Amino acid sequence: MSFDFFIPCPRGLEAALAAELTDIAANRLNGAAFTPGAQVPGGVHFRGGWPAGMAVNLHSRIASRVLLKIAERPYRNEQDIYALALEQRWEQWFSANETLRVDTTAIKSPLRSLEFATLRVKDAVCDRLRDVSGARPSVDTAYPDVRVFVFLTATECTLYLDTSGEPLFKRGWRLDKGAAPLRENLAAGILRLTGWTPDVPLYDPMCGSGTFLAEATQVALDIAPGVERRFGFEKLRQYDVSAWQALKSAAIDAKRAARGGKKHLQIYGSDISGDMLEKARANFERAGFDSIPLKQLDARGMTPPAAGPGILVANPPYGERIEVRGRGPRGEVRTRERDSRDDTFHRAHADAPDAEFFQALGDALKQRFTGWHAFVLTSDRKLPGQLRLRESAKTPLFNGALECRLFRFDLIAGSVRQRPAGDTNAAS
Ligand SMILES: C[S@@+](CC[C@H](N)C(=O)[O-])C[C@H]1O[C@@H](n2cnc3c(N)ncnc32)[C@H](O)[C@@H]1O
Repeated sequence: MSFDFFIPCPRGLEAALAAELTDIAANRLNGAAFTPGAQVPGGVHFRGGWPAGMAVNLHSRIASRVLLKIAERPYRNEQDIYALALEQRWEQWFSANETLRVDTTAIKSPLRSLEFATLRVKDAVCDRLRDVSGARPSVDTAYPDVRVFVFLTATECTLYLDTSGEPLFKRGWRLDKGAAPLRENLAAGILRLTGWTPDVPLYDPMCGSGTFLAEATQVALDIAPGVERRFGFEKLRQYDVSAWQALKSAAIDAKRAARGGKKHLQIYGSDISGDMLEKARANFERAGFDSIPLKQLDARGMTPPAAGPGILVANPPYGERIEVRGRGPRGEVRTRERDSRDDTFHRAHADAPDAEFFQALGDALKQRFTGWHAFVLTSDRKLPGQLRLRESAKTPLFNGALECRLFRFDLIAGSVRQRPAGDTNAAS
């Protein structure tokens, strides 16, 4: 039996997700049905059976969820939506013993209240189950057993059953988040956009809680991103249990083999904050890869951690979220013990522009990273000007609701494309 699935992902990563889905179909499905579908803003469609849906949950590093399409029909008002939801045979999928949550997303919907539409779908599902079984499920918005998603355009209503449960960026091992962690699926998508492969050195000089490093390590060791977690479909009345057991045990065996194999990885991280590095270490330990070398270091003083050209990837602090640290004299690393001094320092330098930090960072890239390719994710379009480097490419990406650019800088010997001092025109 085949279903239509929709796989949401961070906006800007649709093509990367489509390519990843093709890889999953080729390498993880043993010939099970999979038909790629359209890429649309915010996700990718595909058609396939349970094995395909489960394999995408287990193996996609970029997907946010895997949604199974239940019904689609034109609508004009909330009553039409209620009627569509009431007709569906929800009892095939779950019983009134399961708790429920309904979410609605809309683009150009004429409805005045999406909350009311959400409520009507919840009522319809509960009414349907009461009619067929005599009992209504309860709502649990925090930890529901079952999630129904409603997607509204100007004229069409689509109902989806979520097969993921917790969003897929939750890999099941992160304890310590740090101040502003990247979502794992955004980090994984960026790694794919950089073209990095495990035989190439990878360095994140502002690694924070280590999201890029953890994702890269899992790619290098071929560890399935979902091997440590559970999925929404495991609570449904029907899914392909034996196909799931085969997929999951292959993933568990691959992880065991990877940990036993002691493969040499060229993945390196540093950060100015000792606290962040402790968080990164705790995360790596829980995830089972504790050998990633980490250094406490001001990024302005960074040097290539490995011989040979490699890929540097970073998301520096965003003005909106956390401050750049280390605006003081180069190399000064402030640690927890000096926190009170930190505050004095920050007050004293409250007016110091970030420009000084980014100019020094640009100098470090130009002077010491010849042959490397640097990829920097930021919401600040003036970043290339601040680094005094000209980007070779820029890709719009969304970090949640924050519109960002992934800037690529090719630090080729003798031809580093520099911007003249003072040229801080915004790149679009
Ligand atoms: C937006 S966070 C990076 C988050 C990271 N990608 C993650 O997923 O957790 C920016 C990081 O830059 C670090 N940072 C700030 N100033 C720095 C400096 N001068 N040198 C090195 N790291 C710095 C912060 O400690 C923080 O961990």
